[in-house]
Amino acid sequence: MNTPEDLEPLFQPLTINGLTLPNRLAMAPMTRGFCPGNVPTEQVAAYYRRRAEGGTALLITEGVGIDHPSSVGIGAGSAEGVPVLYGDKAIAGWKKVVSEVHAGGGFIFPQLWHQGPFRLPGTGPVPTAESISPSGTWGPTDRRTNAHAEYMEAYSTPHKAMTEEDISDVIAAYGRSAAVAKDIGFDGIAIHGASGYLIDTFLWPETNKRTDRYGGDMAARSRFAAEVVRAIREAVGPTMPIVFRFAQWKQQDFDATIAETPDELGIMLNALTDAGVDMFDASTLYFNKPAFADSPLPLAAWAKKLSGKQSMAVGGIGLSDSLFNSLSIGGAQVEKNYYEAAERMAKGEFDSLAIGRALISDPEWPQKVRTGQEPAVFRREDLGQLV
Ligand SMILES: Cc1cc2nc3c(=O)[nH]c(=O)nc-3n(C[C@H](O)[C@H](O)[C@H](O)COP(=O)(O)O)c2cc1C
Repeated sequence: MNTPEDLEPLFQPLTINGLTLPNRLAMAPMTRGFCPGNVPTEQVAAYYRRRAEGGTALLITEGVGIDHPSSVGIGAGSAEGVPVLYGDKAIAGWKKVVSEVHAGGGFIFPQLWHQGPFRLPGTGPVPTAESISPSGTWGPTDRRTNAHAEYMEAYSTPHKAMTEEDISDVIAAYGRSAAVAKDIGFDGIAIHGASGYLIDTFLWPETNKRTDRYGGDMAARSRFAAEVVRAIREAVGPTMPIVFRFAQWKQQDFDATIAETPDELGIMLNALTDAGVDMFDASTLYFNKPAFADSPLPLAAWAKKLSGKQSMAVGGIGLSDSLFNSLSIGGAQVEKNYYEAAERMAKGEFDSLAIGRALISDPEWPQKVRTGQEPAVFRREDLGQLV
């Protein structure tokens, strides 16, 4: 029988590159689509503040388009409602978000995002920009996926394979956006390197067919991601935390792998560590699922073990069903697997937990679980409103 005291590992402070967070709970980055004109509103600021007040120490924002014309478009729901990190209005909006979160006692990192081949041509803040990816392909179309059937044909139409100049431009855009984030007052930077978006399409052999130094084995496929991290590190200086999200699975292919073995994963993680990452956010649908055959360790535990850096676990924490299952069946029940997460954290498998849907449904999730109360269930309809 578990008692609330068993959850205390989750409520210990955590220092990431000099930034001390009061507990180990983070809100996972979640695109919501409530930023008209790509600008976060007062309602968005209140939404994040509410989670800070509810006891979540670290808010990772929804994906935010970096300062590159092709960074976001339809592919993430409504292109119109996805925020960006450039332009006076968006910057003013983010200042308000940051000050509200700080007033609520929390810390906040923006998730820097370039959708790459998931942006439909002709959409987003700059409709004339060409969609780009390492080799001009979205990837195979016969895999297990949740990609919108109505968009599949458009995604799978070849688009622009990035030139060396495109690569330099995008890397510079990441650096510029990170500098803007620092000026705004964000406490750290989160990088979206998962789910089949631009950075991930360099890591995944199915979408990276390049024969130059950005394609080939894992070391070469990691080069773009590492150069992005390096540019961000240069822009923000040595003491601002950088969290990098990676995943095996892609929205193009739920069963995909970028690393077949721990050794191969280690090559990628070490390249990113050398470039300046402080913490790895190992994106999985089930936080406790073994990542490789012959070992019970989940991906976040491997990330920590292989890199020597801190890691964050995510996926199904507090809920009975994974993200995609819950979207198809209409929701998920409360599951007290956070006790298992606390136990794994106490054993040193990972340092932090990112909570996604459970925090959309219940901003007071941390306080409730800590005091043994039942948090709210997740209903698909909860995604339709921002409260
Ligand atoms: C509505 C919604 C939007 C999401 N948007 C993003 C995003 O912008 N960036 C990202 O890295 N992950 C995104 N995710 C994935 C979450 O960060 C998280 O990894 C996933 O929901 C699993 O955590 P959970 O089981 O606790 O919900 C999104 C998830 C949801 C439910």
